[in-house]
Amino acid sequence: MPSRIMLSPGDIATLDLTDPRTHAEYDLSEVWRHLRRTQPFYWHPSVGGAPGFWVVSRHADVSEIYRDDKRFTSEKGNVLTTLLMGGDSAAGMMAAVTDGPRHADIRKILLKAFSPRALEGVVDHIRQSTRELLRDAVAREECDFARDVAADIPLTAICDLMGVPEADRAKVLELTATALGNDGAAQSPVAAWQARNDILAYFGTLAEERRRNPGDDAVSVLATGLVEGRPLTMDEIVVNCYSLIIGGDETSRMSMAGGVLALVEHPAQWQALKSGEVDIATAVDEILRWTTPALHFGRTALEDVPVGGQGQVIRAGDVVTLWSDSANMDEEVFDAPERFLLGRTPNKHLSFGYGPHFCLGAYLGRAEIAAMLTGLRELVASVELRGDTRRNYSNLLSGITSLPVALRPE
Ligand code: HEM
Repeated sequence: MPSRIMLSPGDIATLDLTDPRTHAEYDLSEVWRHLRRTQPFYWHPSVGGAPGFWVVSRHADVSEIYRDDKRFTSEKGNVLTTLLMGGDSAAGMMAAVTDGPRHADIRKILLKAFSPRALEGVVDHIRQSTRELLRDAVAREECDFARDVAADIPLTAICDLMGVPEADRAKVLELTATALGNDGAAQSPVAAWQARNDILAYFGTLAEERRRNPGDDAVSVLATGLVEGRPLTMDEIVVNCYSLIIGGDETSRMSMAGGVLALVEHPAQWQALKSGEVDIATAVDEILRWTTPALHFGRTALEDVPVGGQGQVIRAGDVVTLWSDSANMDEEVFDAPERFLLGRTPNKHLSFGYGPHFCLGAYLGRAEIAAMLTGLRELVASVELRGDTRRNYSNLLSGITSLPVALRPE
């Protein structure tokens, strides 16, 4: 991968944050630093006839808006693509794009699948399968860490969480990759739409089965959960199943592959990991901050909100995007944010969001990265880059999709 081209504050006038290439091919750190300092609420001009939108870059402002689901709703979409189209077809049904009491009800049901007891077996399996994947990778001359190791861990975890039968897993992975369609600069919207429908249909069938014969997996929890004595509708069940796959697969994968690349690029931090000088838990959070797998989420303002102390007003109906990519590098919150330090503490990164929609899979995501780091510490003596890496093309998910490396055995 050629290194990304650094944009300068002078490029802001032509910056297009909706374009996947902006994030894959350019380094925005100077731009973000400038926006945080001078225009923490920046009005991004309209692109291709879609509405313009606010770009919020400071940690304090991003956290504040994440927390405020009274004045900023998720029900008109929570990512740029849906926000700019004016809505999300799963609004009012899928937890991530539902607010108020209905959100609380759906979240309460979902939380049963995420209780530490429910996750015990899933996490044990994550540790075991991660060790196996790393052992296999070490045994080979060379591997693509992103595809051969990082790709399998989250999907196995989500499939375990949802009780997806072994025989269906490859199909579910393929559909997920197509639905997100992030593996190249060009993607087919029709194929992505079809894959999304296929995933929904698959979980519809699985949920029917689990209603008749429930287990303790997330599909059963959704299929049998009651709100005021009434079950969720089949539409609510399948869109929430979909959100677990979409929310938990590529995000964790990006953070793991990006974490390994960061370790290759920072040999002193690799040594700190190997020597046991840093806690795995602390290292996990620095990898989450450093990689920031979800670049942004967003909201729509429900009322006029004065912001920024410069007479600016977010108007009711405006789209407001919250850039963790910038907030996680905010020098007001992090000492030397541009340094990758596995021992960093405190580490109030916003990679899992904040407030009422805080990521339900945070424990699971952390467990996956922890299993990877523990495996690397115990089984791998060194990691060597063996070719060009490749970045994801998306305005939402940031990370490495191909990472050719040689892992030397301990
Ligand atoms: C919500 C990031 C892993 C399921 C979120 C949000 C973020 C996020 C930033 C907040 C969205 C918003 O406020 O609009 C991540 C990252 C992950 C990860 C970086 C991995 C490193 C997972 C996993 C799962 C999951 C493993 C499930 C298997 C969800 C769900 C929500 C959510 C269901 C919606 C919660 C709600 O609206 O109440 N995630 N996530 N995530 N995440 Fe994750």
